[in-house]
Amino acid sequence: MKTQSLTGAAALLLAQASVAFAALPSNKTSWQQYVVSPQSRNIVPASILSHSGNVSNADVLVSGGGVARLTRAELNTTYPSWPSGTNAKASSEAAPNTDGGVTRTYNASNAIDGNLNTFWNDNTEGQYPDILTITSPSKVVLDGVTLESSSDGVPESFTVETWDGSSWTQSGSITGNNATRCRVPFSQNVTTDQVRVNVTQDQETSKGVYTRITELWPALVADDPAVPEIVLDFGQNVVGFLEIDFAGGSTNTPGIKLAFSETLVYLTDVSDFTRSGNGDAITPGTDQIAVKSTPYKWTDTNGCAYNDSQVCADGLHGFRYLKISLDALDSDSPHTSPSGFVDISSVSLNFTAYLGTLSSYSGWFECSDEQLNQFWYDAAYTNEMVVDDFLADTVDPRDSASPTLLGKTVIYDGAKRDRDPYVGDIAISGRTAYLSHEDVSTAVVNVLADLAEHQSDSGWIPPASINNYGLHLFDYPLYWVTSSWDYVLYTGDVEYATTYYLELQNVLNTWCPSVTDDTTGLLTKSKYYHDYAFLERYGIVTYYNALYVQALQSAAKLANATNHTSDASAWQQRAATVSQAINDHLWDASVGAYLDDSTDTTRHGQDGNGIAVITGVANATRAQSALDYLADKTALPYGNAFMDNDSLLAGGSERVYAFTSYFDIQARFLTSNVDSALDEIRRLYGWMAASDPGITFWEGIGTNGSAYEDAYTSKAHGWSTGVLPALTNYVLGLTPTEPGYQRFAVNPAFPQNITWARGQEATPYGDVYLEWSTADNGTATISLTAPKGTVADVSVPKKSSVELDGTVVWSASSSDQTQSDGVEVQQNGDLITLVGVSAGQHTVVAK
Ligand SMILES: *[C@@H]1O[C@H](CO)[C@@H](O)[C@H](O)[C@H]1NC(C)=O
Ligand SMILES: *[C@@H]1O[C@H](CO)[C@@H](O)[C@H](O)[C@H]1NC(C)=O
Ligand SMILES: *[C@@H]1O[C@H](CO)[C@@H](O)[C@H](O)[C@H]1NC(C)=O
Ligand SMILES: *[C@@H]1O[C@H](CO)[C@@H](O)[C@H](O)[C@H]1NC(C)=O
Ligand SMILES: *[C@@H]1O[C@H](CO)[C@@H](O)[C@H](O)[C@H]1NC(C)=O
Ligand SMILES: *[C@@H]1O[C@H](CO)[C@@H](O)[C@H](O)[C@H]1NC(C)=O
Ligand SMILES: *[C@@H]1O[C@H](CO)[C@@H](O)[C@H](O)[C@H]1NC(C)=O
Ligand SMILES: *[C@@H]1O[C@H](CO)[C@@H](O)[C@H](O)[C@H]1NC(C)=O
Ligand SMILES: *[C@@H]1O[C@H](CO)[C@@H](O)[C@H](O)[C@H]1NC(C)=O
Ligand SMILES: *[C@@H]1O[C@H](CO)[C@@H](O)[C@H](O)[C@H]1NC(C)=O
Ligand SMILES: *[C@@H]1O[C@H](CO)[C@@H](O)[C@H](O)[C@H]1NC(C)=O
Ligand SMILES: *[C@@H]1O[C@H](CO)[C@@H](O)[C@H](O)[C@H]1NC(C)=O
Repeated sequence: MKTQSLTGAAALLLAQASVAFAALPSNKTSWQQYVVSPQSRNIVPASILSHSGNVSNADVLVSGGGVARLTRAELNTTYPSWPSGTNAKASSEAAPNTDGGVTRTYNASNAIDGNLNTFWNDNTEGQYPDILTITSPSKVVLDGVTLESSSDGVPESFTVETWDGSSWTQSGSITGNNATRCRVPFSQNVTTDQVRVNVTQDQETSKGVYTRITELWPALVADDPAVPEIVLDFGQNVVGFLEIDFAGGSTNTPGIKLAFSETLVYLTDVSDFTRSGNGDAITPGTDQIAVKSTPYKWTDTNGCAYNDSQVCADGLHGFRYLKISLDALDSDSPHTSPSGFVDISSVSLNFTAYLGTLSSYSGWFECSDEQLNQFWYDAAYTNEMVVDDFLADTVDPRDSASPTLLGKTVIYDGAKRDRDPYVGDIAISGRTAYLSHEDVSTAVVNVLADLAEHQSDSGWIPPASINNYGLHLFDYPLYWVTSSWDYVLYTGDVEYATTYYLELQNVLNTWCPSVTDDTTGLLTKSKYYHDYAFLERYGIVTYYNALYVQALQSAAKLANATNHTSDASAWQQRAATVSQAINDHLWDASVGAYLDDSTDTTRHGQDGNGIAVITGVANATRAQSALDYLADKTALPYGNAFMDNDSLLAGGSERVYAFTSYFDIQARFLTSNVDSALDEIRRLYGWMAASDPGITFWEGIGTNGSAYEDAYTSKAHGWSTGVLPALTNYVLGLTPTEPGYQRFAVNPAFPQNITWARGQEATPYGDVYLEWSTADNGTATISLTAPKGTVADVSVPKKSSVELDGTVVWSASSSDQTQSDGVEVQQNGDLITLVGVSAGQHTVVAK
């Protein structure tokens, strides 16, 4: 089942429309209307966005039942040439380099050698002029010249001068060129033996600003016949192996080139990202096919059809858009031709990630606000996209293909990239997994256990298998601890905690002390380490220390769950000491927020302040002050920035990570700043849902709401799915407090605009079902069905009375508290908590 993703304006209207007070509807499967996951592994394109060149019947690739044909006339590959003995000189030449055993040169002579696979490359990036001078032993008559350049080194502005025997004369001039083949017609025929090209501007590309001239031809050369191409839209971000059913083709092995992209803005002649772009350099950014003349099915597979270097493809892709072109790389010659015809009867995707069918949802959520509901299921799908089998040729090629993970199901960071399971990301994607598809907990524990097995002697735990478990992140060993507790808490797998208890002790009792500053007792980061965003902040940083407190608190709970009570109290004690030290050394009273790092007195981070509130490092006064400060200084139309100024990195105050925003959002819910939590959710997730590719949530957001690392940015990142646990934990109000929900809290935030919510979660004891609604007169009703073996602590706002199953158990007008069914009534600030509500079906009414 699919719903259209809404454009910004429509989404806003919908959000406003949903405010009306509606009663809890009776249909308990209506949550299914929000599910956006594909319901089958075989995914066909949703629409043809465009086609150009000689293409017929493109529509059948959506409708089926015919054959689409791409045709391209033969290219004239007889090119004009200079008289023999001609030489070329240049103002600068890039040095030769060697890639995969092949040495390439970039000399000026490459521009007149008649070889389209070689080019002259200047050696002065972004500096001008770049000058190429051709000298012929005899005079030639020219009506113009043609400059053929590499697509990543197109001269945009240049002049062509000819030597008249005594001086140079400008014979042609070009500005604003963007074509790889650029004709420079002369106003009159020129007889000369020297031609000079003076480049004063090149087109900018992601590879830099260079002049890369493949050939300078002594004549005007016509354009090649247009490349036929079809742009397909799969309707939403997807991941897997593309399959093409070819129905035949010309007998000259026509070449097909495929360019993939998650977004339209980065759909060009090359993919927005390829595995090749991360080091497995077998393709120049497109996947190639040498099409046979007889019908067959082609499956995108990582590797090369010829000589380990020709007609290569990446294999798996994460994308929404696909451009199919009939064309050939010169370097694939003679195995593919850039002309002929190709017949295609279907294009489809073998979706390899977790298939979120309606029945696979072990947990679900629904409330009276349709926009929030959609975010929940968008987040679920984003997370599904990052759950996949760990295969050598689909994981990050940067030394990640660990033998101990091969063949196991894992939870990656992103679908398109990096495709390595990072434990910091799991701090969020793990929770999303437990709450949407509990069977994904296997993928989580596969990663947690593997990383524990790769702990170093220092007690440090690697963040992921990348660099053969050698990427030095500082924060991720702490996330291994918090993620381990989350795993045990949500699944009840205490056995895991017992198995890796020694590793837990090593992290906290060996590694942490080794990176602790003796004077303050706070963690201090050296330049040996990076973090989740490769931020260059060192020394004593609030974020690492607040996270350290969270790790100690999680470890204390793991210790209790495994009967290591003395560790539990030692770690709990250390958490309190570190909390005090953070308050003593990192609080900035001048603004009322925690500093980002102790050496910069101007910057305050969302990550550190958020976790300081969640962990209780910040008391109620400081928490409110810090959250108000962040709301005031970091709010953007697309979320809250992760830093309040640019002193750490350029654009830092315009960068939004849904990853760290989750800490901010949680902090707001936990401190009863419910409206500001929802406001942040609506800005952040509303922005992503309304932007291309829709549905899936991005790795990071940059200036003006763009993809923060341009084309490289992953548009489906598990660490950005925090909206899902936030809605379940705080809006529905369901959170486990002891392993496997043996004990759990029911504590809805009862947001003003939301009149009802309901949801279900799987536990090892069976399903917990919870629903609540509020009436116009303010009465709040919670209904709960809990399986045998579990106990609930149910909190409601303090009004005039609280009833449990029809019996008044607390009343403002009487100090008597009726004991009912062993339930103890506690008052905590504005809340009344019924401690110890037994399994079974219960109704709690607060009025
Ligand atoms: C209620 O919802 C409307 C529409 O989404 C929004 O403008 C308003 O700020 C919300 N109010 C609160 C208190 O959340
Ligand atoms: C309940 O909602 C689902 C999803 O919207 C719908 O398919 C189904 O027909 C509804 N059932 C009833 C009884 O209305
Ligand atoms: C397109 O290709 C077909 C053959 O597939 C040919 O008959 C037709 O003339 C071509 N159209 C153009 C405009 O070149
Ligand atoms: C191919 O190009 C060459 C040189 O540019 C030209 O001399 C020749 O006439 C062209 N052939 C055709 C068939 O157009
Ligand atoms: C070159 O510029 C023209 C005009 O702005 C545009 O239509 C065309 O798509 C551009 N071509 C390339 C290859 O960027
Ligand atoms: C250049 O010379 C060619 C013949 O070599 C002729 O066809 C053409 O018209 C001349 N161009 C000009 C601009 O005189
Ligand atoms: C190249 O062009 C620039 C800009 O017009 C000019 O300043 C420079 O003198 C030219 N260089 C040569 C060698 O012609
Ligand atoms: C889809 O890809 C998976 C993983 O490579 C493979 O096991 C499966 O057979 C493929 N399914 C189809 C229908 O090709
Ligand atoms: C561990 O258990 C003890 C005894 O029940 C309790 O006092 C303590 O608060 C627990 N610690 C944590 C972190 O839950
Ligand atoms: C902890 O101790 C309790 C009580 O003796 C026991 O039931 C439980 O199995 C122990 N847990 C572990 C993980 O050893
Ligand atoms: C929080 O801590 C600060 C600094 O110690 C103190 O001034 C403030 O009163 C505390 N607030 C609460 C609610 O304890
Ligand atoms: C408030 O409204 C609810 C639902 O309409 C109703 O059941 C309840 O009796 C009302 N309570 C009071 C105190 O009016």
